[in-house]
Amino acid sequence: MLDVVRARIAAAGGALSFADFLQLALYAPGLGYYSAGAHKIGAGGDFTTAPELSPLFGRCLARQCREVLARTGGSILEFGAGSGALAAAVLEALAADDALPERYLILEVSADLRARQQERIARLAAPLAARVAWLDRLPQRPIAGVLLANEVLDALPCERFVVRGGAARRLGVGLDAQGALRSVEFPAPIALPDGVDAGTLPEGYHGEWCPALAPWVASLAASLARGLVLACDYGEARGALYHPDRVDGTLLCHFRQRAHGDPLRHVGLQDITAWVDFTAVAEAAVDAGLEVAGFTTQAALLLALGIERDVAAAPEGPERYARAGEARQLLLPTAMGESFKAIALTRGLEGALSGFALQDLRRRL
Ligand SMILES: C[S@@+](CC[C@H](N)C(=O)[O-])C[C@H]1O[C@@H](n2cnc3c(N)ncnc32)[C@H](O)[C@@H]1O
Repeated sequence: MLDVVRARIAAAGGALSFADFLQLALYAPGLGYYSAGAHKIGAGGDFTTAPELSPLFGRCLARQCREVLARTGGSILEFGAGSGALAAAVLEALAADDALPERYLILEVSADLRARQQERIARLAAPLAARVAWLDRLPQRPIAGVLLANEVLDALPCERFVVRGGAARRLGVGLDAQGALRSVEFPAPIALPDGVDAGTLPEGYHGEWCPALAPWVASLAASLARGLVLACDYGEARGALYHPDRVDGTLLCHFRQRAHGDPLRHVGLQDITAWVDFTAVAEAAVDAGLEVAGFTTQAALLLALGIERDVAAAPEGPERYARAGEARQLLLPTAMGESFKAIALTRGLEGALSGFALQDLRRRL
């Protein structure tokens, strides 16, 4: 993997943009973190996501899907389905309510994770597994129903900047005299996202932005004829994301359940993510003709969708204790409850969304 990165740096004249480096480190065919065979997600992997932590997450999201599917009919399309845990939980919950979608489609860029998803889905009851199909690209004709993306936006390659003398400079990746990877600063100043003024940020401030985000949201919007895009991820509205106190930015690397801040270590073997600018998501959605129907914390979303009822419904004893512990991880502000947000983007959908009834943070966007 390192040889590939070194060759690309040389071909680029000595330095790669950070996003180009990430594209290689995460997605280089056969070598990148998401393309190769590392275990990645779940207890034995590098990081744990909400659907991996508990089936409660998928059961709650299934209620939101059911409400929308009752109005639109159609299918669910999940992006970046990881190990398939969310798909399995959503399908089982919808089957129990006799409310299965026409199809449950999955679009996954990693061949390795796609194989893992296929194994997971094959363990479902046959009528559920038969609804699932994998797509190689976005559907040619827009679909009605629900588009789901949990922790996908944070996996899109981001750029990094550092503030020097009141201006933002782009960071990239080059080589030192020994051929080791090193961070480099491109000399020309760059423009930051609308409303972010490098002059108000402290010297040495680091931050990220994601150029792939707006095109990705636009391509999702083009795939939705009628219904809901529900995206959950860690992130903030822009004002909070680029707060002057957040001097080190939000870039985080995950290697064997430990988080650290050095993207140049363990290249191809670790996950590298940055928080999502939800204002950018909302702007791209509006530009693409979608409506921003809700923005809330993960805790408020799951409480509104009945997570407490799900815990109480578990048989008394070890299972109830396990579910209660998982719910705490999903809900507590010190765990995933506040840093993770959910955004609802809709097209042609009448009526309110139950998941966003408890808390409306759209004014922050
Ligand atoms: C952090 S993992 C989250 C996995 C899963 N959604 C979960 O919550 O456990 C990111 C996922 O997004 C996928 N991914 C990254 N970029 C993508 C894209 N452009 N389209 C679809 N999936 C993508 C990765 O391969 C991986 O499955």
